[in-house]
Amino acid sequence: MPITDCTSSPIYLDNAASTPILDEVITEMLPYFKEHYGNPSSLHRFGRVAMRAIENARLHVSSLIGSRQHEIIFTSGGTEANNLAIKGIAELVRKTNPEKNCIITSAIEHESILEAVRDMERKGFDVSYLPVTREAQVETSALKETIVDGRTALVSIMCSNNEVGTIQPISELATITHQKGGLFHTDAVQAVGKMPIDVKNLGVDLLSVSAHKINGPKGVGALYKREGLNLTATIQGGGQESNLRSGTENVQGIVGFGKACQVASQMLVTYETEVQALRNYMIDKVLRDIPNSRLNCQAQRRICNIAHFTFLGVNGEDLIIKLDELGIAASTGSACSLRRQKPSHVLKAMGFSYAELTGSLRLSTGILNTKEEIEQAVSLLSKAVRELRKLSPFELVSDKRN
Ligand SMILES: Cc1ncc(COP(=O)(O)O)c(C=O)c1O
Repeated sequence: MPITDCTSSPIYLDNAASTPILDEVITEMLPYFKEHYGNPSSLHRFGRVAMRAIENARLHVSSLIGSRQHEIIFTSGGTEANNLAIKGIAELVRKTNPEKNCIITSAIEHESILEAVRDMERKGFDVSYLPVTREAQVETSALKETIVDGRTALVSIMCSNNEVGTIQPISELATITHQKGGLFHTDAVQAVGKMPIDVKNLGVDLLSVSAHKINGPKGVGALYKREGLNLTATIQGGGQESNLRSGTENVQGIVGFGKACQVASQMLVTYETEVQALRNYMIDKVLRDIPNSRLNCQAQRRICNIAHFTFLGVNGEDLIIKLDELGIAASTGSACSLRRQKPSHVLKAMGFSYAELTGSLRLSTGILNTKEEIEQAVSLLSKAVRELRKLSPFELVSDKRN
């Protein structure tokens, strides 16, 4: 049977790309569009109300990650937080200690890290990209072999990968870095709200967060900067955010971010149990119902909402389009690179072959998904894979029986 257009309501399984904003978050934000529109830098009451709202949000963000309020710098999102961490630290450290000319990161970071370090490479920094295992794990031994005593300004390793979900041993990596005199940053955009994050326990100097990955609004995020650490601003102007991020604050966005963090704190257990259970149910069903399907990344520690599959004989982009026609939102991996259709650098670093790379699909669950949705989605996915395989030049014997 040819696949026809979807008739029922769409099923969103791309929560690693972005999440629906919760009603309580929207409710919290609304007054800051309509009544409390003052500039937080203004001295009058409108300004004071806006400033109080920002400080209240700062409290919620800081308590979600175990920091102090004044250690949070609001930014326009995870991308800006990552850029600020890399560029703001590297230049400053090199200025005070020209010997510290090295930056270390991993081969599977988000583009906002990779592009920022490439920029620093063009400015004369010596950048190393740590390899990963087949499960996308950064090994502590790789860092130990690469880091040179007194030469490293910054090590930046993501907390959880956005494509396959592997969680990295952040506290161990941070300890090694500190022993060699470097500073440690982690991009925790995919981890915050999905697993307990405490900056003090992790021992990190800098950590990036984004609101729209935790059921908050887009265009707002934060960088945690350990107290006492110096940082050079990348955006200059009126001196907002303790002179580290100038520009009139996105008050309504920040308020929504604060509320999303407050809810995320309360929902952490739900995420770790229910969202994970739903994700695992989906994995079992896909592997059982779809022949020649494979779960990529079975790392012991992986984030609770991401599942990444390969369906040999299928092109991932074709599959996304077919699924979209059927009303299912999915992804091949990172959605944050302007629809660029290039093979995933993450899967390449994991050692995937061309066929494995092209037939991949990321499904990511969230707090609003239901078991019924998962059942329907897997049944439609099964159909879509079968249809596409019929058109594929690959011979998949077991599938031809279907
Ligand atoms: C791991 C990771 N870092 C950074 C970002 C960028 O965050 P934002 O979209 O808030 O700029 C993303 C977005 O997908 C991400 O997954």
